[in-house]
Amino acid sequence: MRERAKFKSSLGMLLALVGSAIGLGNLWRFPYVVGNNGGAAFIIVYLIVVALICLPVMVAEFVIGRRARSNAYSAYDKFAPKSKWKYVGLLGVLTAIIIDSFYCVVGGWTVSYLFHSICLDVAPETPGQSAAMFSALTGSTSQNLIYMLIFLGLTCGVVMLGVQKGIERSCKYLITILAVLIVVIMINSLTLPGSSEGLRFLFKPDFSKVTFKTILYAMGQGFFSLSLGCCCVLTYASYAPHKDNLLKTTSLTVTSDVLFALIAGAAILPAVFAFGISPTEGAGLAFITLPEVFGQMAMGKVIAILFYFVLFAAAISSAISILEIIVAFVMEIFSFKRVKAVAISSILLVALGVCCAIWGTVFDLFDKISANILMTTGGFLIAVFVGWKITRKDFEDEITSSGMHKVPRWLLVTLRFLIRYVAPIGVAAVMISSLAGL
Ligand code: TRP
Repeated sequence: MRERAKFKSSLGMLLALVGSAIGLGNLWRFPYVVGNNGGAAFIIVYLIVVALICLPVMVAEFVIGRRARSNAYSAYDKFAPKSKWKYVGLLGVLTAIIIDSFYCVVGGWTVSYLFHSICLDVAPETPGQSAAMFSALTGSTSQNLIYMLIFLGLTCGVVMLGVQKGIERSCKYLITILAVLIVVIMINSLTLPGSSEGLRFLFKPDFSKVTFKTILYAMGQGFFSLSLGCCCVLTYASYAPHKDNLLKTTSLTVTSDVLFALIAGAAILPAVFAFGISPTEGAGLAFITLPEVFGQMAMGKVIAILFYFVLFAAAISSAISILEIIVAFVMEIFSFKRVKAVAISSILLVALGVCCAIWGTVFDLFDKISANILMTTGGFLIAVFVGWKITRKDFEDEITSSGMHKVPRWLLVTLRFLIRYVAPIGVAAVMISSLAGL
């Protein structure tokens, strides 16, 4: 039996988790969703949902992963042998495969834009040109494929190097550079004349926009952005040292993710508004709207390089975490070496990625079912499992690292209550009402 990999330091583990969390969700979705759903009012709802549902689900995943020290599938088997719970792990692996297939296509676009920005041809002088450039990229199967393969190749390269030398080391560098660059971009945006309009769009509270749907958006955003519900945190936690402070790691991850999303909003929207352009979300924001903004901005070509590096770094550190779920599963279930497991997983991902790249409907389908159904179902089951199948003693032993960390009694009780009742009921209520079209 090979010795199981471990993260080298607590900081490295934290940065790997932060790298997984910070991704396209923060950069191209959060600012727009906030702006269109009541600004600060949405942020308040988001923070409540994150505190009451997302953080408890993250803690639950962490508890399973670190205690079981195995991949998503086998972890459940260790706690509840011969039961059907292992299918929750399998669902996580399947969800990861689906997410990674379209994530790698987008990752390819970030590579393409980073490359073009370095060649100084991303910020067009004439409006309308950026839309043409983007559809030239997405409309060409060969270009889509080449860039996707480069992105996936880099992701596989990192994962092949292993937990410490690959994942931990790359995330350390990527996240540090990412944090510095996004602050630089934000400062530049905030100094543009007319930038306050963007801040108003992002932060001005409008409570009349808060409806039941707002909670749904907040939960979807929270699950995707914090990489929950598909055993990603579980897999990383299985490499975490037992002595690490679980509550500190999870709460710092959540805080960094929310903070980064807010900074990203303050970096992107003020610039968009300063040039009188309307904000958009998703690929349109990153690859059509922003190039136009860069085209009009002084030093826009330099800021474009920084921005596309940020986008690329955020995407690859997330893609690494998604691939690791699949690789850990293949390695341990089939007793394959890491290199072989990565090779097999990547063949599958290329095949599915090609489908996403060629057929927009497959791309949209994968995107929708993963965020709206698979991740939330996974999150619900994970909370139920930890809340009802794991004994209070085991739960508390894991949270406190066998008594090494002093955690107040009220916090342990509250956390277990959130995992047992609030998270599952909250997730189920939101899912049912969204399926019922409320
Ligand atoms: N959190 C990432 C983002 O915001 C995406 C991501 C990484 C993810 N790992 C995940 C999503 C695992 C779901 C599951 O873009």
